[in-house]
Amino acid sequence: MAIQASKYIWKNGQLIDWADATVHVLSHALHYGSSVFEGIRVYATPKGPAAFRLEEHIDRLFDSARIHRIPMPYDRDSLLTACRSVVVDNALASAYLRPIVFRGYGSLGLVANEDVATEVVVAAVSWGRYLGEEAMEQGVDAAVTSWQRPAPNTVPALAKAGGNYLSGSLISSEAKRHGYGEGIALSHDGLISEGAGENLFLVRDGQIFTPPVAASILGGITRDSVIRMASDLGYPVREQPMPREMLYLADEIFFTGTAAEITPVRSVDGIVVRAGGRGPITRQLQERFFGLFDGSQPDRHGWLTHFSSASTNHQELPHVANAV
Ligand SMILES: Cc1ncc(COP(=O)(O)O)c(C=O)c1O
Repeated sequence: MAIQASKYIWKNGQLIDWADATVHVLSHALHYGSSVFEGIRVYATPKGPAAFRLEEHIDRLFDSARIHRIPMPYDRDSLLTACRSVVVDNALASAYLRPIVFRGYGSLGLVANEDVATEVVVAAVSWGRYLGEEAMEQGVDAAVTSWQRPAPNTVPALAKAGGNYLSGSLISSEAKRHGYGEGIALSHDGLISEGAGENLFLVRDGQIFTPPVAASILGGITRDSVIRMASDLGYPVREQPMPREMLYLADEIFFTGTAAEITPVRSVDGIVVRAGGRGPITRQLQERFFGLFDGSQPDRHGWLTHFSSASTNHQELPHVANAV
């Protein structure tokens, strides 16, 4: 489904009409991938729209810009306010926020000079279940793809930068062309890295494992949340390098991400996980996670930012698919 417009987009300090939020075709980011961005979910909760870990996402946006030395023309508070604005001023009940910072128009030199301004945009769109509603219970069939993640000290995996997503798109599209729901990539040394746009966890003998940040992964905010929720539930998570075959021996596997939330994996390369689909630990973590948004779980860690009261007349946007 195509993107459904909301009324306003925040661009370079002001709310403008959706249709006016355009860029020049000679913008630096379009040619060289020089953008950094975030994906943030805003859930419809009993207390009105609430963003999940908003501040951590904005902090990661600044970290990504720092890695790529992109000057940030706005401070943290301005961007937090912009995120609130695109939800409240568009009267949205739930949304997927897309803040993006990119090198704009001014020069086509590879190394951006002072002629190239940094542009900052925050948009709100609607988003359904990234890997499908059914996958939340049944799990998704995944495949290890022939494309590996960029090696350390090539393209920095810890920056959520536009250019990195050429890798994710090759990984995901190869898996989908072969009939799988999502691709899993190995790192340069053949060890498990992550999904195309998700971090990966596996369970074996009641112990939860996930690859470390050195495995060319994005340091996911959902990943961090799952590590904390698992620890609250009495399952400490071991962050350790793992060979590919651990995927075939796992009792449970699940993906985490802002888009994917917590999605079980049913099989990898045609080998069904031992639990046969969503396992009991994945289910407990899903209950903790989704319970935050329907009010059945307390917000133990202060992860929700509430935007307004439930009485506001909010608009539900139709959902779009296929972003990370
Ligand atoms: C490559 C990649 N890995 C992992 C994730 C999950 O990160 P987060 O949980 O912060 O959304 C994402 C999505 O942002 C991603 O694009």
